[in-house]
Amino acid sequence: MSADDSSRAGAGETGPVRVPVALGDRSYDILIGDGLLAEAGRLVRAVLPKARACIVTDETVAARHLDALKAGFDEAGVDAGAVVIPPGEGSKSFPVFESVVDQVIGGRYERGDAVVALGGGVVGDLSGFVAGVVRRGMRFVQVPTTLLAQVDSSVGGKTGINVRHGKNLVGVFHQPDLVLADTAVLDTLSERHFRAGYAEVAKYGLIDDAGFFAWLEETWRQVFAGGPARTRAIAVSCRSKAAIVARDEKETGDRALLNLGHTFGHALEAATGYSDRLVHGEAIAIGMVLAHDFSVRMNLMGPDDAIRVRRHFEAVGLPTRLDQVPGGIPDADGLLALIAQDKKVSRGALTFILTRGIGQSFIARDVPGEAVKAFLHDELAG
Ligand code: GLY
Repeated sequence: MSADDSSRAGAGETGPVRVPVALGDRSYDILIGDGLLAEAGRLVRAVLPKARACIVTDETVAARHLDALKAGFDEAGVDAGAVVIPPGEGSKSFPVFESVVDQVIGGRYERGDAVVALGGGVVGDLSGFVAGVVRRGMRFVQVPTTLLAQVDSSVGGKTGINVRHGKNLVGVFHQPDLVLADTAVLDTLSERHFRAGYAEVAKYGLIDDAGFFAWLEETWRQVFAGGPARTRAIAVSCRSKAAIVARDEKETGDRALLNLGHTFGHALEAATGYSDRLVHGEAIAIGMVLAHDFSVRMNLMGPDDAIRVRRHFEAVGLPTRLDQVPGGIPDADGLLALIAQDKKVSRGALTFILTRGIGQSFIARDVPGEAVKAFLHDELAG
């Protein structure tokens, strides 16, 4: 593995792993460790000494983790209230946004106080948007409770909600002041959702760290089981994302690499109505396999690495083929239309993240739509 994960916050070897995100005066730390909810008050106080905390969470996460987080704040004498929203993607909407804004302002939280997102990507994206605009920008702390949120959506500062035209079309860049990734909370995740988050972990190896991917091929069972291998996988993933975000905060260049598998994946999510038929990580697992197979088809690489990617995802139990999408999907024309609606289309040209092999992804602009359509046609024909 190329990344060193020896940096630790707090006292001695038992403290959390610390991953810094270097963004000048918006720099912050991601802390990764077992039992951080109980430490949250002390850790937030160290970064935001006078802040009150307005925890935003959903009903499902509240039932599991809200008391532990509140106890952590109580212990450090941090005044903390909570706003609880319905679970699910439907909460990334103007009505729920308005309700949270109303409760934050009604609770007399000031600009120096912190909105604390306790939950997965929906809670984090919505809460970050609230923190970004209420009083022209409040402090913001992410406490991600899914693997996907710990390695992806809690880091990087993109926040927002969905509108009828599409996902994440209204929002702001608003970096958190601190991210607390408590690895213990992942024990309450379903295996399906842990596996879906794992697709994003593997993505970091596929983008630019072949050593990490090889380590995952060997070690994924330990990552699923928990303990040091899981912490290490999360730390390497966060370090990889932090490095990309630090060099391209607003996605004018390299940050698009994080979209590996997402162009195909978003089309599959749209085709399945963003429903439980195919959750995000499953869609991008298929998308990453397709991105490798399409790269083979475009003569960018030989077949061996593409076969490795497919085999690894099959081994962990992720879907890898279009015929595994429950309920069926549109034909090649329909899928291409969904791809063309996606935000990674610039003036009619298709932009894809393609690859020359494991760990050798790159941004390919002007990918011919006809080549994509012919490829999808053959994939659908099996
Ligand atoms: N909040 C997710 C990102 O910035 O990528």
